Amino acid sequence: MLMKKLIGPLRQVLTLDQLPLKGALRDEQLEILTQAGILMEGEYIQKVGAWAELKQEFPEAELHELDGDYVALPGLVDCHTHLCFGGSRARDFALRNAGKTYLEIAAAGGGIWDTVTQTRGLDQATLAVIATQNANRLLSEGVTSIEVKSGYGLSVAEELKLLRAINQASADTAADLIPTCLAAHLCPKDWKGSSSDYLTEIADLLFPVLLAENLSTRIDAFVEKSAFSPEEITPYLKKAKQLGFDLTIHADQFSCGGSAVAVAVGARSADHLEASGEVEIQLLASSNAVAVALPGASIGLGMAFTPARKLLDQGASLAIASDWNPGSAPMGDLLAQASILATFEKLTMAEVLAGITFRAAAALGLTDRGKLTEGQLADFILFPTSDYREILYQQGKMKPEGVWKRGEKCRAKKQEPRD
Ligand code: NIG
Ligand code: FE
Repeated sequence: MLMKKLIGPLRQVLTLDQLPLKGALRDEQLEILTQAGILMEGEYIQKVGAWAELKQEFPEAELHELDGDYVALPGLVDCHTHLCFGGSRARDFALRNAGKTYLEIAAAGGGIWDTVTQTRGLDQATLAVIATQNANRLLSEGVTSIEVKSGYGLSVAEELKLLRAINQASADTAADLIPTCLAAHLCPKDWKGSSSDYLTEIADLLFPVLLAENLSTRIDAFVEKSAFSPEEITPYLKKAKQLGFDLTIHADQFSCGGSAVAVAVGARSADHLEASGEVEIQLLASSNAVAVALPGASIGLGMAFTPARKLLDQGASLAIASDWNPGSAPMGDLLAQASILATFEKLTMAEVLAGITFRAAAALGLTDRGKLTEGQLADFILFPTSDYREILYQQGKMKPEGVWKRGEKCRAKKQEPRD
């Protein structure tokens, strides 16, 4: 018999029940239960409903009675991060703000290659500690599921080291880590052949090990002029798909092309999209790919935001992720960034909440999280307020006081939970 736990009373529970995967959402569509409780059985939610009734119906449940006003949201899902890396790129940040171009910064030893060099200098154990620390910071901020990309190794051996480190970190954090192989981040500077040869080597030598060691089920690629062209990347992605990997693409960040590749290969998501125009928006909206906005990269680079409003109005599924990485998005604060994107793109609370919960889960191919309904994982977070709108209104400054992952209460890092 699995243990039952009952938590409440909660001033508001935002279940996100009945909301569709695609398209614009109005706040009136949000289901908000008041004076509610959440009943868990093992790792899953058994029932969400009136506190008084749940208490009566399940006297055997371990009670977690709250004192004060709390709003419960599903645990947040950050579906795009690069949080396993070595070193800092503060110099890039300073140079960029002083007016230097991408090429000038790369020539001065900066850019992605700088992080590759610094990451290669660390061993697997050290990288695992870094990933665990960063994941735990996100967890304390309410992010209970975190995608983590490799992409700072850029050789078979170094990518394996990173993915093994990410998998090792999984064991040391309560958050679920979802590892993604981004060996196609860049053609490495020390590779002697063509870009296509590099991709062939990765597909031939790395993909089988990923499957054999169960290191990742997802393949990502950066489709951009400075990285891989649609023609170079398409055969690589097709090979990955044939082997059963899920696909995701860094698309349309500076120039268009990646979103069309994402749709053509049936990727789960197309991420970035800052440069997407009407054609790309329409294409994404009529596909099953989740469009992932990365406001942290827009803030970090001082560039336009993803056209999130247009994507939603055309009917796309929109998720929002932090893109936490040392170069373009060093902040790593999902809630703050989602709130900022909302003000610039005019997104409703419902659209933002969907974008950092079940729509983000869909970008990862996960249907077992992101809503507070029967059968979903008991991943939820408690904010010290009586009005859910306060959470985004406070632009990331209101932190959850309680973080529950798979039916267990995590120790909050910054504040001691009150219950
Ligand atoms: O998602 N666009 C490519 N990759 C990362 C940046 C990585 C880096 O600058 O280190 C991104 O923004
Ligand atoms: Fe990224």
